[in-house]
Amino acid sequence: MVTPGPAAAVASVPGHLLRTVRAARRVSVLTGAGVSAESGIPTFRGAGGIWGKYDYTRLATPAGFSEDPRLVWEWYRLRQREIWKARPNPAHDVIAAMEMRFEDFHVITQNIDGMHERAGNRKVIELHGNIWRMRCTRDGTMIGIPGPVGEIPPVCQCGSLMRPDVVWFGEALSPAVLEVASQAARESDVMFVVGTSAVVHPAAALPALTKDSGGVVIEVNLEPTDVSTYADVSFFGRAGEIMPALWTLISSPERFMTGHPIIRDR
Ligand code: OAD
Repeated sequence: MVTPGPAAAVASVPGHLLRTVRAARRVSVLTGAGVSAESGIPTFRGAGGIWGKYDYTRLATPAGFSEDPRLVWEWYRLRQREIWKARPNPAHDVIAAMEMRFEDFHVITQNIDGMHERAGNRKVIELHGNIWRMRCTRDGTMIGIPGPVGEIPPVCQCGSLMRPDVVWFGEALSPAVLEVASQAARESDVMFVVGTSAVVHPAAALPALTKDSGGVVIEVNLEPTDVSTYADVSFFGRAGEIMPALWTLISSPERFMTGHPIIRDR
């Protein structure tokens, strides 16, 4: 089922789905760059996307880093400055509120911007790392980065280069992190999939794990994706509008919902 915008989304969500979400114990939210777009952080694909402007082979691969670590760090410093100025938007806020509401809740994010943590989420599974951490290229020592890096390229105490603790093209995700994410997906009664093009694997396959295990998949995106083909419902619009509209409905007291003219089973 497909709906056109936030108001229509709220008006047309099937009653049985709403009841499933309200009764859910295990809930996860898979996010991509689209959830941070309204905070002013650019997405990767589509109009104005990062990979349309920058050459990922030079900036986001192990080979690019070996060739020119300063260039790579310059680019990450630029992104850190951009993210530093940004603020969580209403979609992040709703996802933070969800963690308080559901007994067993996880954010599974492909984003490296740390915005979910800033919005208040504590259970965040970071599939692709975090731009606010770096690690030693020799011994793996991990160091948090409190703000945009100063001198580049940063060097470890051992004298070796530090690199951003993010997953680059051609690199595998941490098997442990992926296992935790897959288990959360399999066990979810409901998974929300927010602002991802769902083209990068293995993240893109997680909603199907929820679906195949009998859970409900609810998608929020500007446009259809592969997930739309099997999601129980897709809402097409801005996450910063759809998520608060959905949340208002989900958190409405049952009394209000009973007999409400816009909520009906189909
Ligand atoms: P993409 O840039 O591929 O996709 C962003 C998605 O968000 C698109 O489907 C948009 O339609 C949608 N979108 C944009 N603005 C939105 C809004 N305001 N509300 C709702 N949806 C919106 O980003 P990801 O799917 O996150 O990997 O990309 C996955 C991975 O590819 C990234 O983690 C990154 C990249 O290469 C690594 O760097 C390892």
